[in-house]
Amino acid sequence: MQTPADLIVILGTGGTIAGTAPTASDGVGYAAAQLRVEDLLAAVPALAGRRLEAQQVAQLDSKDMDFATWQRLAGAVQAQLARPEVGGVVITHGTDTLEETAYFLHRVLAPAKPVVLTAAMRPATALAPDGPQNLFDAVQLAGTPGARGVLVALAGRVHDAVQVRKAHSYRVDAFESADGALVARVEEGAVRRLGAWPDGEALGLARIARAAAAWPRVEIVLNHAGADGRVVRALVAAGVDGIVAAGTGNGTLSQALEGALREAQAAGVRVLRSTRCDAGPVIPLPGQLPAAGALSAVKARVALILALLAEA
Ligand code: SIN
Repeated sequence: MQTPADLIVILGTGGTIAGTAPTASDGVGYAAAQLRVEDLLAAVPALAGRRLEAQQVAQLDSKDMDFATWQRLAGAVQAQLARPEVGGVVITHGTDTLEETAYFLHRVLAPAKPVVLTAAMRPATALAPDGPQNLFDAVQLAGTPGARGVLVALAGRVHDAVQVRKAHSYRVDAFESADGALVARVEEGAVRRLGAWPDGEALGLARIARAAAAWPRVEIVLNHAGADGRVVRALVAAGVDGIVAAGTGNGTLSQALEGALREAQAAGVRVLRSTRCDAGPVIPLPGQLPAAGALSAVKARVALILALLAEA
């Protein structure tokens, strides 16, 4: 008899959702990544009837997310998705670099089942923590028949990995699909679909197999008033492999910064132009440095790392 694919696996990586503060009224002075994923599930009695498994893949504040953890996480997600009884995977994560991890998994795995990242802006000890509701919604989404792709569920909204950005430093609904539509909403445990489930191109785990310490080094520089080329020259001297320039507006760069980036490119450093705007693409124009399309600077960096991993 075929096993129904109704098992949802929760992979814990830390973050504020697993954070604790000395007092319930403290929403900022807390320590992230203190509680285990089993503790987070225990705080959501509404999930008691579901078939769930938990695995702690990491326990960190996501400002400290690193390539080795990404490798481990991608491997764990792929292994769980390969089990026929698994209908979907939920990843609990910090909000700060969640969009980078989501985009990384989207590019590497392009899963045919839902992989839902969720998080919280308030620690688990807060007067009104947002983590339990977000975790409940994420499990509902991960168990939705027909759903697929890397999704981000927070504050009742479901974003795709390409669009999603952390847009607010404090609000509970901190995430936006900056330049497009939401994929869905989760309301009272029901998923209301608004757009297509995201498809990706699965680069595969072989692409990211190289030892994390040997991954390409890609840095981000910003155009701003008075931007000159010194930072770029220092990065080239330090042996950087790629530079993402977060330009102004349509990825524009001061003359001095552009000159330094062109020197870097001539020296073999890969350069990609994104924008420092909160939303919108960089539209390529003839003769300009390569544009990152609609990717934010941090996602353009992930894309460039993945491209360079294929080249070396
Ligand atoms: C983190 O990103 O791990 C801490 C901040 C948060 O989750 O909101």
